[in-house]
Amino acid sequence: MASRGGFSNKLGFILAAAGSAVGLGNIWKFPFEVGNGGGAAFVLLYLSFCFILCFPVMITEIAIGRKTSLNPVGAFNALGFKNWNIVGKLGILCGVLILSFYNVVAGWAFGYFVEMVQGHFDIGQKFGGFISNIVKVGGYAVIFMFSTAFIVSKGVSGGIEKAAKILMPTLIIMILGLVAYAMTLPNATKGISFYLVPDFSEININVIGGALRQAFFSLSLGMGALITYGSYVGKDDNIVSSAAYITLMDVGIAFIAGLMIFPFVAFNLGGDMQQVTEPGFGGPGLIFVTLPSVFENIGGALGIIIGSLFFLLLSFAALTSTVSLLEVPVAYVVDEHKVNRNKAVWLVAGIIFILGIPSLLSGGYSEFFSNFSRIIGVPEVIDGDFLSFVAALADVLLLLGGCLIVFFAGHVWKKHNLDAEISQGFEGYEKSFVKKFLNFTITILSPIILAILFILVFFNNFIGIDIMSMIS
Ligand code: TRP
Repeated sequence: MASRGGFSNKLGFILAAAGSAVGLGNIWKFPFEVGNGGGAAFVLLYLSFCFILCFPVMITEIAIGRKTSLNPVGAFNALGFKNWNIVGKLGILCGVLILSFYNVVAGWAFGYFVEMVQGHFDIGQKFGGFISNIVKVGGYAVIFMFSTAFIVSKGVSGGIEKAAKILMPTLIIMILGLVAYAMTLPNATKGISFYLVPDFSEININVIGGALRQAFFSLSLGMGALITYGSYVGKDDNIVSSAAYITLMDVGIAFIAGLMIFPFVAFNLGGDMQQVTEPGFGGPGLIFVTLPSVFENIGGALGIIIGSLFFLLLSFAALTSTVSLLEVPVAYVVDEHKVNRNKAVWLVAGIIFILGIPSLLSGGYSEFFSNFSRIIGVPEVIDGDFLSFVAALADVLLLLGGCLIVFFAGHVWKKHNLDAEISQGFEGYEKSFVKKFLNFTITILSPIILAILFILVFFNNFIGIDIMSMIS
């Protein structure tokens, strides 16, 4: 059998997985979710979910991947539970859905970089025109998908790992530089306190569900991305500490991104942070509409440099994520259908690009796709455009997938088998506190809470029934 390849060492894996995790979710989505969720209360919920519910799911995914050395569908088969490979299939579908719209937004980020380099600060006011300009956004989406496919076609260590080793450190340096700069702006402290001082009256089911969805999306969980990356991990690497580093890097970068964005926003609003929570202010446009005018106010060459750096950072973060999203269906096609890697990559990338066309058109170019959710009668919790619809759909599917994966590991494959895999590379695991913590979270806490929230969020977002308010 031809070698599937693998990461060259533990650091290579951690950087690649952190690269998958750190993406638009951290820098584009996290701040506007915080804005919608009323600020710091959302941040607190998000952090608790990451460490208590998601961290165990991450360990489970990596362990299943490493145990079987296979893609999410093959992994369930190899463990002897063919019926459960539907969870892997759901994951692959989810990855395809996510990449189809994610690539479009990544293309916007890259397009903004190009505009910033030319000093086009007014692009923020022209956001609507930009995303409905099908030639431009289509072109940038092609460039982005092409770059993603190119990296993935070079294989695991020669492509995915190598890209992460260059892009991740660059990204960290850029973001720290930008935070340091943002802190010096007038009204920075007002932005920071909105971000960090919680107001618990803001918490409701949408905020709770939103925080969990954000945690799942941001950590790349629930669809087998980490089963796939786990399948390339060395047998004597410590899975628990790797997962801890990945979680910390992802949460750390989301947190730091907030420290950069909110001072920027506060600077622009003259310190009036109330506006951020008002409907219609935040949303997907927060970064694309607001930030260019921040860079304009900075002005001159410095404005151009800061603005270009920001959108380059966003593009880099997105690229290591699109790479992981493409790798999942590619690994599936390579393992299960014995297609060679190069062919699989270009075929799958092409199909996903085509599936992304409705999202491309939903920025105003096509009436139908721009108002898709209203036309088909999806509740107003979800924005009208097709891209937002697919994003919301993928979000709930990730919760379902995550729930089924931990349930499977804890009760079908059985926890002691999972433990045996985790203890490889982790001496003393059997007697550790980590094991007790995972016992409780993997077999009881995570599956139950994920199942409940999946149902609540699904009914609320897609059927328009708010079960929580019916009970209380
Ligand atoms: N985590 C990435 C982000 O925050 C997006 C992403 C990449 C993802 N791979 C994934 C989300 C797999 C869910 C599943 O931008």
